[in-house]
Amino acid sequence: MPVAPVDKLAQWWLAASNIAILTGAGMSAESGVPTFRGAGSGLWSRFDPGALASPGAFRANPDLVWGWYQWRRAVIQRAQPNAGHRALAALERLRGTLAVITQNVDDLHERAGSRNVIHLHGELFRTICSECGVPVPDAPVSAAMADNPEQRLAPPRCQRCGGAARPDVTWFGEPLPEPAIDAAYVLARTCDLLVVVGTSGHVAPASVLPAIVNRRGGCVVEINPEATWLTSEASLAWRSTAAVALPTLFARLSHSATR
Ligand code: OAD
Repeated sequence: MPVAPVDKLAQWWLAASNIAILTGAGMSAESGVPTFRGAGSGLWSRFDPGALASPGAFRANPDLVWGWYQWRRAVIQRAQPNAGHRALAALERLRGTLAVITQNVDDLHERAGSRNVIHLHGELFRTICSECGVPVPDAPVSAAMADNPEQRLAPPRCQRCGGAARPDVTWFGEPLPEPAIDAAYVLARTCDLLVVVGTSGHVAPASVLPAIVNRRGGCVVEINPEATWLTSEASLAWRSTAAVALPTLFARLSHSATR
Protein backbone atom coordinates (compact mmCIF):
# COMPACT_ATOMS: atom_id res chain seq x y z
CA MET A 1 0.00 0.00 0.00
CA PRO A 2 1.42 3.46 -0.86
CA VAL A 3 2.58 5.51 2.17
CA ALA A 4 0.43 8.61 2.80
CA PRO A 5 2.33 11.92 2.38
CA VAL A 6 1.71 12.81 6.02
CA ASP A 7 3.28 9.55 7.19
CA LYS A 8 6.32 9.98 4.97
CA LEU A 9 6.84 13.58 6.07
CA ALA A 10 6.29 12.71 9.75
CA GLN A 11 8.93 9.98 9.47
CA TRP A 12 11.49 12.39 7.98
CA TRP A 13 10.50 15.08 10.49
CA LEU A 14 11.14 12.80 13.46
CA ALA A 15 14.48 11.66 12.04
CA ALA A 16 15.73 15.18 11.20
CA SER A 17 18.13 17.10 13.42
CA ASN A 18 17.56 20.47 11.73
CA ILE A 19 14.34 21.46 10.00
CA ALA A 20 13.51 24.67 8.13
CA ILE A 21 10.30 25.83 6.50
CA LEU A 22 10.20 28.04 3.38
CA THR A 23 6.90 29.81 2.75
CA GLY A 24 5.43 31.90 -0.04
CA ALA A 25 2.19 33.66 -0.84
CA GLY A 26 0.18 30.40 -0.91
CA MET A 27 0.79 30.15 2.84
CA SER A 28 -1.51 33.14 3.41
CA ALA A 29 -3.99 32.40 0.59
CA GLU A 30 -6.47 30.72 2.95
CA SER A 31 -6.36 33.86 5.13
CA GLY A 32 -7.78 35.76 2.15
CA VAL A 33 -4.48 37.40 1.12
CA PRO A 34 -4.03 37.26 -2.67
CA THR A 35 -1.04 35.41 -4.14
CA PHE A 36 1.05 37.02 -6.89
CA ARG A 37 0.71 34.60 -9.80
CA GLY A 38 -2.68 32.94 -9.25
CA ALA A 39 -4.66 33.03 -12.50
CA GLY A 40 -7.10 35.96 -12.45
CA SER A 41 -6.84 36.80 -8.75
CA GLY A 42 -3.02 37.03 -8.47
CA LEU A 43 -1.69 40.52 -7.74
CA TRP A 44 0.56 40.48 -10.81
CA SER A 45 -2.35 39.64 -13.10
CA ARG A 46 -4.33 42.62 -11.74
CA PHE A 47 -1.54 45.17 -11.23
CA ASP A 48 1.67 46.09 -13.05
CA PRO A 49 4.66 45.36 -10.76
CA GLY A 50 6.77 47.81 -12.78
CA ALA A 51 4.39 50.65 -11.84
CA LEU A 52 4.05 49.71 -8.16
CA ALA A 53 6.99 47.71 -6.87
CA SER A 54 10.21 49.36 -7.96
CA PRO A 55 12.27 52.33 -6.73
CA GLY A 56 11.67 54.08 -10.08
CA ALA A 57 7.89 53.66 -9.76
CA PHE A 58 7.99 55.18 -6.28
CA ARG A 59 10.07 58.15 -7.44
CA ALA A 60 7.69 58.73 -10.39
CA ASN A 61 4.45 58.33 -8.46
CA PRO A 62 4.87 58.16 -4.67
CA ASP A 63 1.18 58.75 -3.88
CA LEU A 64 0.03 55.88 -6.11
CA VAL A 65 2.63 53.46 -4.73
CA TRP A 66 2.05 54.48 -1.08
CA GLY A 67 -1.74 54.20 -1.60
CA TRP A 68 -1.36 50.69 -3.05
CA TYR A 69 0.77 49.55 -0.12
CA GLN A 70 -1.72 51.08 2.37
CA TRP A 71 -4.36 48.98 0.55
CA ARG A 72 -2.23 45.84 0.99
CA ARG A 73 -1.67 46.69 4.67
CA ALA A 74 -5.43 47.14 5.21
CA VAL A 75 -6.17 43.80 3.49
CA ILE A 76 -3.63 42.00 5.69
CA GLN A 77 -4.68 43.86 8.84
CA ARG A 78 -8.20 42.52 8.47
CA ALA A 79 -6.97 38.97 7.69
CA GLN A 80 -6.34 36.37 10.39
CA PRO A 81 -3.65 33.69 10.52
CA ASN A 82 -5.06 30.46 9.07
CA ALA A 83 -4.83 26.91 10.40
CA GLY A 84 -1.54 26.44 8.52
CA HIS A 85 0.14 29.40 10.25
CA ARG A 86 -1.18 28.16 13.60
CA ALA A 87 0.07 24.62 12.92
CA LEU A 88 3.60 25.89 12.18
CA ALA A 89 3.61 27.79 15.50
CA ALA A 90 2.37 24.64 17.26
CA LEU A 91 5.06 22.56 15.52
CA GLU A 92 7.66 25.04 16.80
CA ARG A 93 6.35 24.58 20.36
CA LEU A 94 6.36 20.81 19.94
CA ARG A 95 9.93 20.75 18.71
CA GLY A 96 11.29 23.64 20.78
CA THR A 97 12.66 25.41 17.71
CA LEU A 98 11.64 25.81 14.08
CA ALA A 99 12.95 28.38 11.61
CA VAL A 100 10.48 29.82 9.10
CA ILE A 101 12.02 31.52 6.08
CA THR A 102 9.27 33.50 4.39
CA GLN A 103 8.99 35.50 1.20
CA ASN A 104 5.80 37.01 2.59
CA VAL A 105 5.82 40.58 3.82
CA ASP A 106 2.72 40.01 5.98
CA ASP A 107 2.90 39.38 9.74
CA LEU A 108 0.64 36.32 9.87
CA HIS A 109 3.36 33.88 10.99
CA GLU A 110 4.17 36.14 13.93
CA ARG A 111 0.50 36.72 14.77
CA ALA A 112 0.03 32.93 14.84
CA GLY A 113 2.88 32.62 17.37
CA SER A 114 5.97 31.66 15.32
CA ARG A 115 9.03 33.18 17.00
CA ASN A 116 11.82 32.55 14.48
CA VAL A 117 10.65 34.14 11.23
CA ILE A 118 13.14 35.31 8.60
CA HIS A 119 11.59 37.82 6.19
CA LEU A 120 13.49 37.55 2.90
CA HIS A 121 11.48 40.28 1.16
CA GLY A 122 11.08 42.71 4.06
CA GLU A 123 8.10 43.57 6.22
CA LEU A 124 5.03 45.45 5.11
CA PHE A 125 4.27 46.94 8.52
CA ARG A 126 7.65 48.64 8.81
CA THR A 127 8.24 52.03 7.24
CA ILE A 128 11.55 53.64 6.37
CA CYS A 129 12.72 56.84 4.68
CA SER A 130 13.31 56.33 0.95
CA GLU A 131 16.23 58.80 1.12
CA CYS A 132 18.17 58.14 4.34
CA GLY A 133 16.77 54.72 5.33
CA VAL A 134 15.89 55.51 8.97
CA PRO A 135 12.64 54.12 10.45
CA VAL A 136 9.64 56.43 10.05
CA PRO A 137 6.54 56.24 12.30
CA ASP A 138 3.66 54.64 10.43
CA ALA A 139 0.63 56.42 9.03
CA PRO A 140 -2.55 54.80 10.40
CA VAL A 141 -4.27 52.20 8.21
CA SER A 142 -8.07 52.41 8.14
CA ALA A 143 -10.40 49.51 7.29
CA ALA A 144 -11.79 51.55 4.34
CA MET A 145 -8.38 51.50 2.65
CA ALA A 146 -8.93 47.79 1.96
CA ASP A 147 -11.61 48.74 -0.58
CA ASN A 148 -9.52 50.79 -2.97
CA PRO A 149 -6.18 49.60 -4.34
CA GLU A 150 -6.02 52.63 -6.63
CA GLN A 151 -6.25 55.27 -3.89
CA ARG A 152 -3.58 57.97 -3.99
CA LEU A 153 -2.18 58.84 -0.57
CA ALA A 154 0.74 61.10 0.26
CA PRO A 155 3.47 59.16 2.09
CA PRO A 156 4.53 60.47 5.50
CA ARG A 157 7.78 62.48 5.55
CA CYS A 158 10.99 61.56 7.33
CA GLN A 159 11.50 63.69 10.44
CA ARG A 160 15.27 63.65 9.92
CA CYS A 161 15.74 64.53 6.23
CA GLY A 162 12.24 65.25 4.90
CA GLY A 163 12.36 62.35 2.42
CA ALA A 164 9.23 60.40 1.48
CA ALA A 165 8.51 57.33 3.59
CA ARG A 166 8.18 53.90 1.93
CA PRO A 167 7.33 50.39 3.12
CA ASP A 168 10.38 48.38 4.20
CA VAL A 169 9.90 45.72 1.52
CA THR A 170 12.17 44.55 -1.27
CA TRP A 171 11.24 45.99 -4.62
CA PHE A 172 12.27 44.71 -8.05
CA GLY A 173 15.86 45.68 -8.71
CA GLU A 174 16.74 45.94 -5.01
CA PRO A 175 18.97 43.61 -3.00
CA LEU A 176 17.42 41.44 -0.29
CA PRO A 177 18.04 42.39 3.36
CA GLU A 178 21.50 40.94 4.00
CA PRO A 179 20.94 39.49 7.49
CA ALA A 180 17.83 37.67 6.25
CA ILE A 181 19.39 36.10 3.16
CA ASP A 182 22.56 35.19 5.10
CA ALA A 183 20.43 33.43 7.74
CA ALA A 184 18.47 31.63 5.03
CA TYR A 185 21.66 30.34 3.36
CA VAL A 186 22.97 29.10 6.72
CA LEU A 187 19.73 27.19 7.27
CA ALA A 188 19.83 25.71 3.74
CA ARG A 189 23.41 24.58 4.33
CA THR A 190 22.64 22.97 7.70
CA CYS A 191 19.09 21.62 7.65
CA ASP A 192 18.37 18.01 6.77
CA LEU A 193 14.71 18.69 5.98
CA LEU A 194 13.27 21.72 4.16
CA VAL A 195 9.48 21.95 3.88
CA VAL A 196 8.47 24.33 1.08
CA VAL A 197 4.92 25.68 1.40
CA GLY A 198 2.97 27.78 -1.09
CA THR A 199 5.60 29.22 -3.38
CA SER A 200 5.78 29.02 -7.18
CA GLY A 201 9.59 29.20 -7.06
CA HIS A 202 9.77 32.00 -9.62
CA VAL A 203 11.90 34.37 -7.56
CA ALA A 204 15.56 33.89 -6.65
CA PRO A 205 17.35 33.62 -4.29
CA ALA A 206 14.48 32.00 -2.32
CA SER A 207 14.01 29.58 -5.20
CA VAL A 208 17.60 28.27 -4.99
CA LEU A 209 17.36 27.22 -1.33
CA PRO A 210 15.76 23.80 -2.08
CA ALA A 211 18.58 22.96 -4.55
CA ILE A 212 21.19 23.80 -1.88
CA VAL A 213 19.48 21.40 0.56
CA ASN A 214 19.20 18.74 -2.14
CA ARG A 215 22.84 18.92 -3.20
CA ARG A 216 23.90 18.23 0.39
CA GLY A 217 21.69 15.14 0.52
CA GLY A 218 18.97 16.83 2.59
CA CYS A 219 15.33 16.19 2.01
CA VAL A 220 12.93 18.66 0.36
CA VAL A 221 9.16 18.36 0.72
CA GLU A 222 6.76 20.56 -1.23
CA ILE A 223 3.27 21.38 0.06
CA ASN A 224 1.35 23.00 -2.77
CA PRO A 225 -1.87 22.12 -4.61
CA GLU A 226 -0.03 22.60 -7.92
CA ALA A 227 3.25 21.53 -9.49
CA THR A 228 5.87 24.29 -9.48
CA TRP A 229 9.41 25.10 -10.62
CA LEU A 230 10.56 23.51 -7.36
CA THR A 231 8.75 20.18 -7.72
CA SER A 232 11.78 18.59 -9.41
CA GLU A 233 13.81 19.31 -6.25
CA ALA A 234 11.27 17.62 -3.98
CA SER A 235 11.57 14.09 -2.62
CA LEU A 236 7.88 14.36 -1.80
CA ALA A 237 5.25 16.64 -3.38
CA TRP A 238 2.20 16.75 -1.13
CA ARG A 239 -0.64 18.10 -3.27
CA SER A 240 -2.62 19.84 -0.56
CA THR A 241 -3.01 23.30 0.88
CA ALA A 242 -1.20 24.94 3.79
CA ALA A 243 -4.29 25.08 6.01
CA VAL A 244 -5.05 21.39 5.42
CA ALA A 245 -1.61 19.72 5.25
CA LEU A 246 0.16 21.49 8.14
CA PRO A 247 -2.56 20.80 10.78
CA THR A 248 -2.62 17.19 9.52
CA LEU A 249 1.13 16.99 10.05
CA PHE A 250 0.83 18.54 13.51
CA ALA A 251 -1.92 16.09 14.50
CA ARG A 252 0.19 13.18 13.28
CA LEU A 253 3.32 14.37 15.16
CA SER A 254 1.55 15.24 18.41
CA HIS A 255 -0.01 11.77 18.29
CA SER A 256 3.51 10.25 17.96
CA ALA A 257 4.73 12.44 20.85
CA THR A 258 2.07 11.15 23.24
CA ARG A 259 2.42 7.47 22.36
P1 OAD B 1 3.25 33.11 -6.18
O1 OAD B 1 1.97 33.84 -6.32
O2 OAD B 1 4.22 33.17 -7.30
O3 OAD B 1 2.94 31.57 -5.93
C1 OAD B 1 2.01 31.15 -4.99
C2 OAD B 1 2.04 29.62 -4.90
O4 OAD B 1 1.14 29.23 -3.86
C3 OAD B 1 1.58 28.90 -6.17
O5 OAD B 1 2.51 27.86 -6.48
C4 OAD B 1 0.22 28.28 -5.77
O6 OAD B 1 -0.03 27.01 -6.41
C5 OAD B 1 0.40 28.09 -4.29
N1 OAD B 1 -0.83 28.09 -3.49
C6 OAD B 1 -2.00 28.74 -3.73
N2 OAD B 1 -2.88 28.53 -2.75
C7 OAD B 1 -2.24 27.73 -1.84
C8 OAD B 1 -2.62 27.17 -0.57
N3 OAD B 1 -3.80 27.41 -0.04
N4 OAD B 1 -1.71 26.41 0.09
C9 OAD B 1 -0.48 26.18 -0.46
N5 OAD B 1 -0.08 26.68 -1.62
C10 OAD B 1 -0.94 27.45 -2.31
O7 OAD B 1 3.90 33.59 -4.80
P2 OAD B 1 5.42 33.47 -4.32
O8 OAD B 1 6.04 32.20 -4.82
O9 OAD B 1 5.41 33.68 -2.85
O10 OAD B 1 8.22 39.20 -4.38
O11 OAD B 1 6.08 34.69 -5.03
C11 OAD B 1 7.44 34.99 -4.77
C12 OAD B 1 7.68 36.47 -4.84
O12 OAD B 1 7.19 36.97 -6.08
C13 OAD B 1 6.92 37.29 -3.81
O13 OAD B 1 7.53 37.33 -2.54
C14 OAD B 1 6.90 38.64 -4.46
C15 OAD B 1 6.55 38.26 -5.86
O14 OAD B 1 6.97 39.14 -6.86
C16 OAD B 1 8.38 40.51 -4.17
O15 OAD B 1 7.44 41.27 -4.07
C17 OAD B 1 9.79 40.92 -4.06
